[in-house]
Amino acid sequence: MAKLVATLASTHHPFYLKATTAPKEKQIPQAAEWKRKVEAYRETLTAAKPDILVMVGSDHFHQFFLDNYPTFLIGKAPRYDATFYNEEREFGIPKYVLEGHEDFSRFMHEGLMEEGFDFAVSHELKIDHSIICPIITVRPDADLPVVPIYTNIFVPPLASVKRFWNLGRAIRKVLEAWPSDKRVAAIGTGHLSLELGGPRQFGPSGPDPEFDRKAVAWLANGDIEAIFENVTLESMVQSGNATQGFLNMILMMGVAGPVKADYADTLDLYHTMEAYFTWYPDGEKPARVANARVEETV
Ligand SMILES: [Fe+2]
Repeated sequence: MAKLVATLASTHHPFYLKATTAPKEKQIPQAAEWKRKVEAYRETLTAAKPDILVMVGSDHFHQFFLDNYPTFLIGKAPRYDATFYNEEREFGIPKYVLEGHEDFSRFMHEGLMEEGFDFAVSHELKIDHSIICPIITVRPDADLPVVPIYTNIFVPPLASVKRFWNLGRAIRKVLEAWPSDKRVAAIGTGHLSLELGGPRQFGPSGPDPEFDRKAVAWLANGDIEAIFENVTLESMVQSGNATQGFLNMILMMGVAGPVKADYADTLDLYHTMEAYFTWYPDGEKPARVANARVEETV
């Protein structure tokens, strides 16, 4: 059977590449630290030696809109074009073509349906920065096949917190049932507190630093009970108008299980808190991965 070798959950900041490759004199003050942290985080994936990536993201109104937005969607294509025009223009993100894996996509689709998740399917999905940002940060060679999963974190009504957690659990179950000797890593991105286009967008920190502090601790400690007690769709809106991206972080913790992260790190970047988490299956943390930064982080 396939083996889950690492689960990664992080924020996706579309300006990472631009910020860290600009001429030195034009870089933001945090650029060097940001690059150092991302490269350390990248090592948590590299050390797990994955063969294939299940990637969880969400379409930012690039191809799905208010009139037709799937709650959960899986890509089932031989390859995926990536990067939309506005992402090239505004963020400087290059175009990519990611290899797909149709057999694994088919297996995941059927298995998730059996687990009670009625997925939409796309044979012509185009990937946006929710999946390309983690490619840039943790697998910049873009050399592994991917199975993309898109969730709706934008268009009400959204699936519940519990539903996202349970989807993570189901993804874990199904991928480990895949009759294959492949080493699979699951990588997903979302947000902590985030405001887009609203009055709290350009503050000195994320719109709700208190939520960010708690959310990082919940993820680092695998404390899903605290999340169930404290986080609702309504409460996330109070923390910033795009904080529902936290749902994807919950989903990824669902893939890992209710266990402490093996690696956690954060970085305050003007209007958002960046956060990076990695979990390994029981006791299988690669020796070359730095000691968990969890204690420093929470
Ligand atoms: Fe986003």
